[in-house]
Amino acid sequence: MRGAVVTGWGTALPDKIVTNEDLSARLNTSDSWITERTGIKERRIGGTTSQLAIDAGQRALERAGRGGDEIDLLVLATTTPDALVPGTSATVQDALGVQGGAFDVNAACSGFVYALVAAHGLVLAGAERALVVGSETLSRITDWDDRSVAVLVGDGAGAVVLEATDGPGQLLAWDLGANGSLRHLLCCDHGGYLYMNGKEIFRHAVHAVVSSSLKALDRAGLSATDIDLFVPHQANTRIITAASQRLGIPPERCVVTIDRYGNTSSASIPLALVDALDTGRLRPGGLVLLSGFGGGMTWASAVLRWGG
Ligand code: ACO
Repeated sequence: MRGAVVTGWGTALPDKIVTNEDLSARLNTSDSWITERTGIKERRIGGTTSQLAIDAGQRALERAGRGGDEIDLLVLATTTPDALVPGTSATVQDALGVQGGAFDVNAACSGFVYALVAAHGLVLAGAERALVVGSETLSRITDWDDRSVAVLVGDGAGAVVLEATDGPGQLLAWDLGANGSLRHLLCCDHGGYLYMNGKEIFRHAVHAVVSSSLKALDRAGLSATDIDLFVPHQANTRIITAASQRLGIPPERCVVTIDRYGNTSSASIPLALVDALDTGRLRPGGLVLLSGFGGGMTWASAVLRWGG
């Protein structure tokens, strides 16, 4: 049996930190509103989607002990590509010297899990090593005079290296879903700014995360109480808390990084996953649940057994 295991991981964040106080100085908002309604205290702003992806990808390759020329598949999740054409993955492929296919995935905040599941399938179908990246510069499509969006977003990237293995691999089960009839809730036209109906998305988000997580867990033959680490998309601590409670996952098993990074869309799950790895919260054999939702609407969950 052929499987895939994560052998390396890395992140990249812009140096510039923008605090709630910084935003309150120029917008009709406050640290207390942002903290209470979202859980965000600060976010990183700056850079380009390709450069953040290159830096995160390079770190993941170093950790895996691989060169870019040993990677035969690059999947880059982003909603904020450097350009419409070519895909941002082309720039990343060139910089890292990836020898093989490279393509972008846009499934908004679910993008990283979509990319991971796609890459996993391609490894099962014959690719040897894949680099999977979530990278975003939401700051570039944000109207910084619109307090309803400006306080939420951040920039950053996270990446993992997936390698083929003899054996079942780490991905035990997954669930991908979409409901395009809700695409008007979160959108950005060519050259425009991000529009979001926060209240409506909030209403759908908790249900999407819970039902998608339960489907993936069921396919893995597990229940939420088996999960050692829950890595949800970081859009709002109230969404994370509500989803964790409904799943019955206690706070100490849930990763929260939104206070430091805000909502980084498809970078948020790999940023949170790497944060947990770097702080020793995930050990070999541990069961991990990744679950995201976002524009589309889309949602995506994956259950992994770490190590191997
Ligand atoms: N500062 C101060 N007041 C504000 C701000 C702000 N930044 N933004 C809105 N308000 C006001 C509103 O005008 C409103 O005032 P009113 O009652 O006088 O009309 C009040 O605060 C409450 O606004 P709501 O929109 O009802 O606030 P809510 O509690 O719903 O929180 C939020 C808003 C944080 C956006 C929440 O709805 C949310 O997190 N939604 C989900 C967002 C999400 O998950 N997005 C998904 C992906 S994002 C992506 O893909 C990039």
